[in-house]
Amino acid sequence: MSSTRVLTGITTTGSPHLGNYVGAIRPAIAASRDPSVDAYLFLADYHALIKNQNPDEVAQSSREIAATWLALGLDPENTYFYRQSDIPEITELSWVLTCSAAKGLMNRAHAYKAALQANEESGEDPDFGITMGLFSYPILMAADILIFNAHQVPVGRDQIQHVEMARDIAQRFNHHYGETFTLPEAVVDDHVAVLQGLDGRKMSKSYGNTIPLFGTPKQLQKAINKIKTNLLEPGESKDPDDSTVFQVWCAFADEAEREQMRQAFADGIAWGEAKKQLFERVNDELAPAREIYDRLMSNTEEVEATLKHGAERLRPQSTALLEKVRHAVGLRAYR
Ligand code: TRP
Repeated sequence: MSSTRVLTGITTTGSPHLGNYVGAIRPAIAASRDPSVDAYLFLADYHALIKNQNPDEVAQSSREIAATWLALGLDPENTYFYRQSDIPEITELSWVLTCSAAKGLMNRAHAYKAALQANEESGEDPDFGITMGLFSYPILMAADILIFNAHQVPVGRDQIQHVEMARDIAQRFNHHYGETFTLPEAVVDDHVAVLQGLDGRKMSKSYGNTIPLFGTPKQLQKAINKIKTNLLEPGESKDPDDSTVFQVWCAFADEAEREQMRQAFADGIAWGEAKKQLFERVNDELAPAREIYDRLMSNTEEVEATLKHGAERLRPQSTALLEKVRHAVGLRAYR
């Protein structure tokens, strides 16, 4: 009996924020504990190069993201947790796939099309600032998925197209060279929580409205104090469903606490008091992980060893698959 292989990647750019935690990290760690699945979770650091060409930032983000997932309880013995760049078979496979993937398919990728359109709108050359990395990004992602014959790929809506492209690429390869790859499927959870940011829009690095996940408690408090509110005074009844403070509260509170806060809003809780309670609630949940995070960040050897170990456990799978692929396409020993 073989388990379902569930694989997902995290592009290592930026620093983790509260929105990543609530929308992606917390649910993925919970899902990785399901004993009926083999969970593959990796740091897509080659993908990071498409978005960021500052070496120090690339290195720092990868470290932070790795430490974050481990601090929050990802179990690297129960999950395959690894760096894309530690599995060279992924990039080798990517080239083989590049040679059979249709350019026309890549032309339709959303991320590439968006860049093209932005250039057109600003009157630039259509290719301005577009690297071959951006253009071929879905092929590298296909290699990530196909190298381990993943069955399911949990992704956000914006990534469904890429998983479908991986499926397309696999199908085409299988058709031409013989059954080689499992056809992956995108899995979208429509219930993932989208956390609001400081200005009430979706919390996102690109809006500059994030609350950092593992700052000091002071930084957390300061950020929470910046959440936009209206001008209602203490004692005036407030609408929880129109409030980012309440929305963030709900992402951390249980049912009873939600009801309590709802009542406090109706009773006219002061914004300062609501934010103070929010800070305490969020801080209580994060404090134990923050301690581990700080330790891991001051001794990155441990994280390094964990990731290397994750890759070592997987290399037998990736080398076997790549061997099969090479043979299929005719890269064979002269015998
Ligand atoms: N492209 C994905 C993102 O930006 C990250 C990613 C890279 C990925 N390779 C993957 C996700 C493979 C799932 C499977 O979110």
